[in-house]
Amino acid sequence: MRERPLTQIIPSMPASDGAGVKLRRSLGASQALRQDPFLMLDEFFSDNPDDYLAGFPSHPHRGFETVTYMLDGHMQHKDHLGNTGDLGPGDVQWMTAARGIIHSEMPQQREGRMRGFQLWINLPASLKMQPAGYRDIPSAQIPEHGIDGGRVRVIAGRWTDASGETTGPVQRPVTEPTMLDLHLNAGATVEVPLPPHHHAFVYTYEGSARVGEQTVPHRAAGLLGPGEHLRIHADDDTRLLVLAAKPLGEPVVQYGPFVMNTREEIEQALRDYRDGTLAA
Ligand code: FE2
Repeated sequence: MRERPLTQIIPSMPASDGAGVKLRRSLGASQALRQDPFLMLDEFFSDNPDDYLAGFPSHPHRGFETVTYMLDGHMQHKDHLGNTGDLGPGDVQWMTAARGIIHSEMPQQREGRMRGFQLWINLPASLKMQPAGYRDIPSAQIPEHGIDGGRVRVIAGRWTDASGETTGPVQRPVTEPTMLDLHLNAGATVEVPLPPHHHAFVYTYEGSARVGEQTVPHRAAGLLGPGEHLRIHADDDTRLLVLAAKPLGEPVVQYGPFVMNTREEIEQALRDYRDGTLAA
């Protein structure tokens, strides 16, 4: 069985988005830094309200899915479809922007720690112009599975080991993403089951992780090559996201919050947003 090698490290870089929320961006820091179909991964974490209070006021998306995973704090989502979602610690919001959604994501706290992630996953051409969809997944609906040396929260896809299969609440067509939040004790070595032909990466948000002879440093994305399985070793207590999905192999043209296949489709998205028909 061939182990997935570490092929590239993308350190997270300080960035700012929304109305001035400070965050760290790894995938998506430049348009070359992607792992098809993953477009972007932001981590936000701060104890300073000045870093997050401005939030993400009303803005559009078209052509992909956004996944918000909260670790600490509260964020409220509102969109043009009339959905309101309150995201607290451990909760996930899975939004399929598809042909268009206009929403805001605003902190619901004046002080304390805000910590979490936003991940963008591309949609295939065949689904980019489908109606938008939205789902809140409360923390209690995310299964946690004890493993030798730690535990895993299965958000999307599945975890399979000798004790059986743990299925996450989110199963998506075409890209079939796996999203795991892996907590490892110091000294643990685990084998992570991932579909062999899927593109995959890890993001270390506490501690660091070794893949083969190489280390994915703290707060970095480690892109993985193909293989039958992934073996990770934690020198210290470590938490990381593990992501995998089927690559689309389609052209990607991005302009801010619009991700389409051609420039003409981006121009159409801009016209639709201007005319008020983006999400109609
Ligand atoms: Fe958004």
